[in-house]
Amino acid sequence: MSHWIGISTMDQLADGSYERFEFDDLDVLVFREGDSLYAIEDKCTHDSAELCGGLYMNGEIECPRHGARFCIKTGQALSAPAYGAVSTFPIRINDDGVIEVALED
Ligand code: FES
Repeated sequence: MSHWIGISTMDQLADGSYERFEFDDLDVLVFREGDSLYAIEDKCTHDSAELCGGLYMNGEIECPRHGARFCIKTGQALSAPAYGAVSTFPIRINDDGVIEVALED
């Protein structure tokens, strides 16, 4: 079962940028592309490095440690040395304009 957690608002997240949000047992990166939002776990599937700080371009983020790239929409690994997908999370904007991410209980 999952639940929605309010994390930010659209005016706090610039178009073409991403931000890291920390929760009890995982960290999440939230990306904004125009009016679209995407959320992935901030943990590289190669050697568990934080992806935060990596280059974000053309819908991909590059791991700062060894350079693996991931699709921010699907979490899919796009280049070695990572082969497994990073976790993705449902994300939405509620009626009050708050960005919410769905996390498992
Ligand atoms: S830890 Fe990310 S590519 Fe190695």
